[in-house]
Amino acid sequence: MNYTAMLHTHTLAWFLMLILFIVTVILLKSGKAKGGKIVQMTLRLFYIFVLVTGATLLIWNFYWATGVKAILAVALIFTMEQLSTGIKKDTLQGSRPMVLWTQFIILVIIVIYFGYFVA
Ligand code: HEM
Repeated sequence: MNYTAMLHTHTLAWFLMLILFIVTVILLKSGKAKGGKIVQMTLRLFYIFVLVTGATLLIWNFYWATGVKAILAVALIFTMEQLSTGIKKDTLQGSRPMVLWTQFIILVIIVIYFGYFVA
């Protein structure tokens, strides 16, 4: 697979991952535990797709901007996992949900900006 094809695969993977994340949150928040569990499992599979395609692009095109972008993207996946698991287990207390959602929004914006305009 060449670089452009890998880039398109990566873009499709992260786009679907973001949709799956939103669907997971909506299902879990509306008490649909079974559906939420299935979609969350699919979401985790997509973390892997995004990580593998992203890591491949990183190896093929490694410089400061792709490195920074990759670190922030891993932090974003970590934030999504903390949010979805926290909502599922109902363990997000006090200011925690607000902090995580703020972190999620800021990271999504920076990672997409970095992907398209810097890296
Ligand atoms: C967390 C979700 C992620 C989002 C929203 C995201 C977003 C993007 C975007 C918008 C691009 C540019 C696509 C284009 O130019 O057509 C891109 C490329 C790239 N991504 Fe990701 N990405 C994510 C995860 C990752 C991960 C986990 C890694 C590495 C471990 C990674 C590494 C890269 C690299 C190296 C490129 C190529 C940059 C270039 O060619 O200049 N990404 N990503």
